[in-house]
Amino acid sequence: MPTPMPQSAQTPASTPFEALYQICSERNSCRRFSSELIPEEKIENILKLGYTAPFASGRKNWEILVVRDQETIARMVQTVSDNVDRLSAQMNEDVATVFRQYARNFYFFREAPVLFVPVYRTVPTFKALARDHFTPDLQLWERDNLVKSVSCVAMLILLAAQSQGLGSCYMTGPLMAQPDLADVLQLPKDRQIGALIPVGKPMP
Ligand SMILES: Cc1cc2nc3c(=O)[nH]c(=O)nc-3n(C[C@H](O)[C@H](O)[C@H](O)COP(=O)(O)O)c2cc1C
Repeated sequence: MPTPMPQSAQTPASTPFEALYQICSERNSCRRFSSELIPEEKIENILKLGYTAPFASGRKNWEILVVRDQETIARMVQTVSDNVDRLSAQMNEDVATVFRQYARNFYFFREAPVLFVPVYRTVPTFKALARDHFTPDLQLWERDNLVKSVSCVAMLILLAAQSQGLGSCYMTGPLMAQPDLADVLQLPKDRQIGALIPVGKPMP
């Protein structure tokens, strides 16, 4: 028999677990946002929770950018769209049609009043330690650790948004345009974007 899950929504949470479960179970990906601005306090709270994330190898080598400037967000959307066009132009028509359909869910961050962008540094610290023993497998392991760490940050951003009545979505589709998006955000060369997370008041 599966363990019965606590009630959500209707029943007020009476324990920390129930409160957490309620936030988690009510979260879902939001893809339509009102343009209403988000109070700074809510943005600060999202950052506050995001920065509690665990990290691998004793290195907190990530940070969370907050993009509020709508022109920058529009340029990011255009960059993703240009990349999708460029790639689909190289495909045969059948594959290109399916790919363009799939990519329709890469653009809706244009509607969000604020975009959270967890970014991680790719400095290969272990390479310096392992030297001649730094194999491609270890390189992959090190990179995976960076990605896993930044994924924890992303999850907390989603939950912080949900806990404050805001919608959000974890997006990595647009990162197919990662190098160009990094240019738009003027990131240093050793930074990688972990996710785009639009946040805003959900549109019904
Ligand atoms: C790593 C990751 C990347 C995702 N990228 C996208 C994306 O680019 N576009 C999108 O619309 N949804 C994206 N999603 C959201 C998933 O589609 C969504 O979480 C999943 O369908 C489950 O639905 P829920 O979030 O409402 O529970 C992503 C989710 C994860 C975990």
